[in-house]
Amino acid sequence: MDLFEKADEAAKNEAAKLDNLSADEARQEIIRLSAEINHHDMKYHGEDAPDISDADYDKLRQRLTQLENKYPQFFYDDSPNKKVGASAKQGFKKIKHQQMMLSLSNGFNRDDIADFLSRIKRFLNLPDHAPIDILAEPKIDGLSASLFYKAGKLEYAATRGDGVEGEDITANILTLPTIPRHLSVDAHDIPDELDIRGEIYMVRDDFILLNERQQKDGKKIFANPRNAAAGSLRQLDPEVTRARPLKFFAYAFGHCSSDWDKYNIHTQSDFRENLKKWGFSVNEPTKLCHDIDALLQFYDHINEGRHSLPFDIDGVVYKVNQLSLQQRLGQVSRAPRWAIAHKLPSETAITKLTDIIIQVGRTGALTPVAILDPINVGGVMVGRASLHNEDEIARKDIRINDNVVIKRAGDVIPKIIRPLADKRTGGEVKFAFPTTCPYCGAAAVRRDGEAVRRCSGGFNCPQQFSEYFSYFIGREAFDIDGFGKKQIADFLKAGFITSPADIFKLKKHEDAIKSGEGWGELSFQNLINAIEDRRIISLERFIYALGIQQVGQASAKILARHFVTIENLMQCLHCQSDEDMGRVKQILTDIDQIGDSMADDIIRYFNTPLYIDMIRDLLGEIQVKSADIPNKTLKISDKTIVFTGTLQKMGRLEAKAIAEKNGAKVSGAISKKTDYLVAGDKAGSKAKKAESLGVTILSEDDFIALLDG
Ligand code: IVH
Repeated sequence: MDLFEKADEAAKNEAAKLDNLSADEARQEIIRLSAEINHHDMKYHGEDAPDISDADYDKLRQRLTQLENKYPQFFYDDSPNKKVGASAKQGFKKIKHQQMMLSLSNGFNRDDIADFLSRIKRFLNLPDHAPIDILAEPKIDGLSASLFYKAGKLEYAATRGDGVEGEDITANILTLPTIPRHLSVDAHDIPDELDIRGEIYMVRDDFILLNERQQKDGKKIFANPRNAAAGSLRQLDPEVTRARPLKFFAYAFGHCSSDWDKYNIHTQSDFRENLKKWGFSVNEPTKLCHDIDALLQFYDHINEGRHSLPFDIDGVVYKVNQLSLQQRLGQVSRAPRWAIAHKLPSETAITKLTDIIIQVGRTGALTPVAILDPINVGGVMVGRASLHNEDEIARKDIRINDNVVIKRAGDVIPKIIRPLADKRTGGEVKFAFPTTCPYCGAAAVRRDGEAVRRCSGGFNCPQQFSEYFSYFIGREAFDIDGFGKKQIADFLKAGFITSPADIFKLKKHEDAIKSGEGWGELSFQNLINAIEDRRIISLERFIYALGIQQVGQASAKILARHFVTIENLMQCLHCQSDEDMGRVKQILTDIDQIGDSMADDIIRYFNTPLYIDMIRDLLGEIQVKSADIPNKTLKISDKTIVFTGTLQKMGRLEAKAIAEKNGAKVSGAISKKTDYLVAGDKAGSKAKKAESLGVTILSEDDFIALLDG
């Protein structure tokens, strides 16, 4: 049984429990559930701040529906199942919908969708095997709006409200660029009075940007794009709405003063095509399906790709395509009989945060991790979530023992969205972020302008070193096979490895290693062979393996190409004074794609004695190959070059190395055989001599241009 089947099973058990209730218990349960749902509706629709996950909300509703179906005598007029959403908010004028704005009933699995199709066919008196056209499309997680057009001109717009009466949001809607004020169609080719229904939503990237702005301005942070869209729309000042990136998808109609057949529109697909023509955006992708397998295939396709859509969706809507059939099917209670929402597995859940632990990474960064009461989120058990850094914990005011909303999106590490502050009982504890490393006790320091606190123990911190060591032998760095996490831990513990160079000296521990658990002659030999294979390494891999902050594979490659040899790199970056530091920084930031802050990290690294010693130790064991320079720079091949004066953009040694690498001969003195004199500032006597001998004199820039071909 997979997790989804288990969930179905659990739902069935839950339903079976209903049978054991007495009528009076059922009545009480209906009242309790109604009150709870009303509370959540108010939070969700009225305040845009839900305190329950969608999945849990759906469960409450499902249970209420089951009870009301079984005990129709308790299906009260004020049941949440008889109204849609929450009543209109105070402050906006009310608008009565000419035709009720419906909600959709939900399906969660194949059985529910099969039931939906059978119900339709029963209602229409069609045999169960009869094909029926169903249009499937994504269900956008936004808020619905109804736009009333008279002779093709937008007259007013309203929110759904309770389905009967909504809020007048005309002024706000007029600020949305994706909503046409006039439909691009001749007034005769469209019903005189027409309600266009659709969803107002916010693209995920826009939502992130908006929250960043809100945070900067010390304003409310929105929990998700839906809440941000709702909060942005329900602004009494439409200018606030204008500044918010809201969009609109049209997907249905409400009141309509004439028959669609008159306009040659017979199906939902025809209607969609016309929506586009009239100037609306419609949601994509859609698929016209003829049976349940096709619907479920489309559902799987949407579910897999949900994160590549730019907006959040929470289901797939299946709609009977034929408009005449939609009309015959009509509605039941608060939802049309001709449509259903097949919900996607929820990605958010609410659980208790029981602890916060600190992980220390290879660069010493202290990362807080939330330990959670394990919970199933969209079919995956989640027991930990990322908390990023200490500011994030403070900003969100996350406390130990809080109930928290967590979100798991695709393969990314689950995140804590926010705590449920009103569920606090007093036993919650604020987290004191450590100022010392929990592994080695060294000070954990936060540099100016950085959000991260780092252990200052360097390689003396066992945790930092162990993380670094895994990185060092990893695929993109030294790529040494044969080590698992356990072997690394064992070798570190036994003291066989205290610095990266030690890996190349492991042979001397042969006897001790071979006698260790899980080791034998063959595995030891394999390991040694894997290590020996890596005694020669390219400069770019070597730089990457050093683990300099911010220097990934791409930057390592750029540095390797620029400095060509490890000796040159170390020499050029070595600083003896503050003045030196400025000069070196200039050299680095002149390199394309190396920014200020990365340059600082690189300089810091190459001027830390601990790291310099580590590199020297390594160079005693291995050989670092010079970088390859692309062929186009071979113009100076076989030429004799002399450098003189002070070069600005590269060190003299660096220039020499580059010239040699490109096949030139570098000489110290000018003669008739000299091809080029590269003259920097204060070139002096050599320049005069070159001139008298007719030797070509190049500026530093000329030399670089020559290299660049
Ligand atoms: S059709 C008669 N299509 O989901 C009902 N609704 O949970 C017409 N929604 O109230 C709705 N995407 O606000 C339809 N592609 C879509 C939708 C969609 C989102 C919303 C709509 C509806 C709610 C029900």
